[in-house]
Amino acid sequence: MKIAPSLLSCDFSKMGEEIVRMDKAGADWMHLDVMDGHFVPNITFGAPVIKTVRKYTNKPFDVHLMISDPLKYADDFADAGADIITFHVECDSDIDKTIDKIRDRGVKPGLVIKPNTPASAVFPYLDKIDLVLVMTVEPGFGGQSFMADMLPKVKEIKDECKRRGIDMLIEADGGIGEATIEQAANAGIDVCVAGTAVFKADNAADAIAKLQSY
Ligand code: DX5
Ligand code: ZN
Repeated sequence: MKIAPSLLSCDFSKMGEEIVRMDKAGADWMHLDVMDGHFVPNITFGAPVIKTVRKYTNKPFDVHLMISDPLKYADDFADAGADIITFHVECDSDIDKTIDKIRDRGVKPGLVIKPNTPASAVFPYLDKIDLVLVMTVEPGFGGQSFMADMLPKVKEIKDECKRRGIDMLIEADGGIGEATIEQAANAGIDVCVAGTAVFKADNAADAIAKLQSY
């Protein structure tokens, strides 16, 4: 299992050092949660901050946009050094145009579904994206409880991709830690985001290694 520590749980006053700490601890990707206070009831950071911390690691930057109009800002996040940009299928932007814009900039596009959104919402776009991110909490905050009832969606997406001969990465985000990762692994998830479980651990390297072993 690949592990992407969510910087949402880091000490924002030293974000660069926190990225170095996660890099050294063996993180596979860095997960950056962008919130606009409109699509979700919380505000975090935007492209200028991501651009500033990009130099602290060579690991992939997995940028999760929880914003209402990702099309408007896709260029900014590409310029900031994102390797993957995921955005919500529930957003206000034109989905096809946003995927195309991200792809045109040489960045891998992915779609995210909130807990109340069915897996089938991403089916029309599966040929055009590299990754589907299944939320296992309501987006907006770290430290929430894992929703195991989201896991059947993973199978639905994988079955549909298999039927159509599409290679797809499946990522899960929210409430993942030692107590819940086995279920995620059994469901066939490729990449797990972990905020609290990694940043609040006594030893981040041990925590990441344990989660990666599933
Ligand atoms: C929630 C974010 C998650 C969150 C995960 O809106 O998308 O990435 O930070 O944090 P934990 O692992 O603490 O649930
Ligand atoms: Zn996230």
